[in-house]
Amino acid sequence: MFKLLKYAKKYIVPALLSPLLMVGEVILELMIPLVMADIVNLIQAEGGITDDSMNQILRYGLRMLIYAFGSLFCGAMAARVASVAGMGFGSKLREVMINKIQKFSFSNIDRFSTASLITRMTTDVTSVQNTFLMLIRMLFRSPVQFVVALVITIRMSKEVSSAFLVSLPLILGVLVVFAPIALKRFKKMLEMFDGFNASIQENLTNIRVVKAFVRTDYEKKKFKKANDELMNAALFAEKLMIMGQPVFMMIMYGTILAILYIAAKAISAETLLIGDFTAIYTYVMQILMSFLMLIMLIAQFFMSQASAKRILEVIDEVPDIRDDDATVTEVKSGSITFKNVEFKYDGAPHPVIKNADFTIESGEMVGIIGATGSAKSSLVQLIPRLYDVTEGEVLVGGVNVKDYKIHALREEVSMVLQKNVLFSGTIADNLRWGNKDATDEELVAACEIADAHGFVSSFPDGYNTDLSQGGTNVSGGQKQRLCIARAILKKPKILILDDSTSAVDTFTDSKIRKGLRECIPDTTKIIIAQRISSVSDCDKIIILDNGTINDIGTHEELLQRNEIYQDIYNSQQKGGDDFDLQGGVS
Ligand SMILES: Nc1ncnc2c1ncn2[C@@H]1O[C@H](COP(=O)(O)OP(=O)(O)O)[C@@H](O)[C@H]1O
Ligand SMILES: [Mg+2]
Repeated sequence: MFKLLKYAKKYIVPALLSPLLMVGEVILELMIPLVMADIVNLIQAEGGITDDSMNQILRYGLRMLIYAFGSLFCGAMAARVASVAGMGFGSKLREVMINKIQKFSFSNIDRFSTASLITRMTTDVTSVQNTFLMLIRMLFRSPVQFVVALVITIRMSKEVSSAFLVSLPLILGVLVVFAPIALKRFKKMLEMFDGFNASIQENLTNIRVVKAFVRTDYEKKKFKKANDELMNAALFAEKLMIMGQPVFMMIMYGTILAILYIAAKAISAETLLIGDFTAIYTYVMQILMSFLMLIMLIAQFFMSQASAKRILEVIDEVPDIRDDDATVTEVKSGSITFKNVEFKYDGAPHPVIKNADFTIESGEMVGIIGATGSAKSSLVQLIPRLYDVTEGEVLVGGVNVKDYKIHALREEVSMVLQKNVLFSGTIADNLRWGNKDATDEELVAACEIADAHGFVSSFPDGYNTDLSQGGTNVSGGQKQRLCIARAILKKPKILILDDSTSAVDTFTDSKIRKGLRECIPDTTKIIIAQRISSVSDCDKIIILDNGTINDIGTHEELLQRNEIYQDIYNSQQKGGDDFDLQGGVS
């Protein structure tokens, strides 16, 4: 928690001003019962209200009024500046976190999971922010109120104050019993929030799949489970509160009862003035209240400790793909070399890529084919350094990818991910993700290569057509073509299409390849595909088998000598998909 306080620096003035104003509020508030006591004592001394004392009383009343307004003003101002500081602190935390997350590599994100990052940025930040707010409002207020009220009470009557000797330690004792249990439960609750968020996130982003597979019942049950767990955890915490509250109340009213008893005896023995008693009674309430506040403050502090830790984990996470020591800012060519590359996902038991050793010349068109799970996607993700190799090295343009400034490398290596997405906004906006300064002519040119211009111009709004989030109002094949166009717009030296034409027909598929070959001949093109027809006209084809390179050659060579290739070829031909062949072997 304290480590996070440095992010409140900008709000130091309101954060300090607030407690000061609070102290002002409390002191003024504490003066009021004293004046009240004077009035009652005066009346008691005079034996009633006389003309003379009436004037005096009015003057006292005016003083009380001034104190009350002063206290009100200080209190309101304090609350205002405290909210400024509290909300500012929260927003600063979220800003620092999101900036950090932007720097995360894919494996950093794998480690936290998106759902957990969301809980951390919302629930956890709110918890810490509330504690901070309470801290600056109460940190001075409660102790000052407690101490001043206690001192006045002791000075007025030692007998009455003796009641606190019993009740205050009692309250502390109860707290020591309850706090650790509550704390443990609270941590558990946060973890459940992660699970809960994961469940709704998955369900909502994939709601179409859920419905298509008629899995709504299953999803409902899954949601109910996560939701119930959360409820039970929250209920348990509530139960503790419900049990705790009567205990505290009992102690409080017990104390008041004891004080009333002691005071009654003291008044009849004439060792205590009635006026002083009215003041003491108010102070007693304030002492108990401020003591409770203080305890709640401490409890809240410890509770948000768990949240603070989870926030710090995000802020302190070291992005494991960095370019601090990298110096190269220019990618000279689109050649790619893998030297004895091995790659293992964080936490996975075995490497998914072993002994990868090959070279792709600048401007070549290379196909990669292999069964699902044979690590095709994993292999190409190493080229723009989305992940780092565990052994060996990957060279782009003759330079190790680790020596490039990441921005420079990724500007030149354009990749259409297998799980591609479009964002909300117009088609033109989405395309300009690739190159924000692209002219309209460039947009059209890129779309023509990707065979997207035809359907885009058939929309009534053309390039200004609004896409809903995720691009759900275009078909799968249209989406893929827009993603390809977006990647081409970057004018990269290397273009990687990871199964990016799986949803377009083979004729369009071959048209796109023809466009790539003719319009961007100098760009190295890597095409991952399931269909032989999608790669058969490539300069060379890499066959991946369970994370190792099985063979590299042209379509004809592989058809002659490679068993896996022959198998895939035969199975796709037997499927009667001769349209496939027409599109491919040309
Ligand atoms: N982010 C990840 N974390 C851990 N393992 C992964 C991750 N992505 C893929 N894998 C694993 O790596 C292997 C290869 O996956 P992938 O490269 O996606 O294969 P392909 O693209 O050929 O279908 C699979 O066994 C998969 O389970
Ligand atoms: Mg893949």
